[in-house]
Amino acid sequence: MKRAIAFDFSRVTEAAALAAYDWIGRGNKNAADDAAVKAMRALLNKMEIRGEIVIGEGEIDEAPMLYIGEKVGQANAMDEEIDIAVDPIDGTRMTAMGQAGAVAVLAAGGRNAFLKAPDMYMEKLVVDSSAKGMIDLNLPLEQNIRRVASKKGKLLSQMTVAILAKPRHDEIIKSVQALGVRVVAFPDGDVAAAVQCCLPESDFDLVYGIGGAPEGVVAAAAVHALGGDIQGKLIPRNQVKGNTPENILAAEKELARCAEMNVPVNQVLKLEEIVRDDNVLFAATGITDGDLVKGVHRKGNMMATETLLIRGRSRTIRRLNSYHDITRMQED
Ligand code: FBP
Repeated sequence: MKRAIAFDFSRVTEAAALAAYDWIGRGNKNAADDAAVKAMRALLNKMEIRGEIVIGEGEIDEAPMLYIGEKVGQANAMDEEIDIAVDPIDGTRMTAMGQAGAVAVLAAGGRNAFLKAPDMYMEKLVVDSSAKGMIDLNLPLEQNIRRVASKKGKLLSQMTVAILAKPRHDEIIKSVQALGVRVVAFPDGDVAAAVQCCLPESDFDLVYGIGGAPEGVVAAAAVHALGGDIQGKLIPRNQVKGNTPENILAAEKELARCAEMNVPVNQVLKLEEIVRDDNVLFAATGITDGDLVKGVHRKGNMMATETLLIRGRSRTIRRLNSYHDITRMQED
């Protein structure tokens, strides 16, 4: 992917975060998501690319989401073919409740850069570059923690594991704490946690949790770009949320879609199977203040954003602090 288009992608996540700002703390996560999706789509369609959403929030009949297979960009014959994985808001609930850590994120790469999978659950395990090659999702989490600790020359009491704090993880959180390991149990937003784990200033040694597959692919782009490691396993809904009739029906649809897309279920996917090379780009703009990026703030007509932009090929990590004059934003 040509480096010249990298900055354009930061405008896309900025636009989504700016659009979500009005919905922070208003208790309406669908309205927040809708605003971010519309802004993201509008900006993507201004780009000189032949883009395709390969992993997003839903299927074609679930519009207005940015759906899997949706074509975006100016799409002139000379434009580059780009695959895009999006999560217009990672943390819709956090946005609606005015809580910290919501981000607008995307990843972009060349054609076939990313795993194509439906919007379903994915079990994920992440480490930074110093523990690359040490994780295996087929092994219990405890064994993974021990392997990473020994590679890093740390005692278990010096290890920090970030785990998505969902009821389904209560037992695993207790069992990790029982090892003497510090657990950071974060309520939502596993993309930010995964990226944070791979940044130099982070205390996270591992990030674990069963969360969304789109989030897993977007996070994997950043993890790959930063030289870290991630493994993922697609899991049908009923295995995660219980065997209710609705969950069984949803799981059947997921399994059928996975078969169509030729992607394995309940099988460990390695980093290179999720993101095929490091010539990818990751952009995240904060919606509410978080540890990864600051959120959107407004003073009068000026709105401030912070965007993390990572280019895999050069492994450049940029933090873009931008100020937007809302009286001029429409004119561009
Ligand atoms: P959304 O804001 O897109 O709903 O995602 C928030 C999130 O916490 C993700 O970071 C995580 O992967 C997923 O939800 C977990 O799913 P669930 O809330 O269904 O347990």
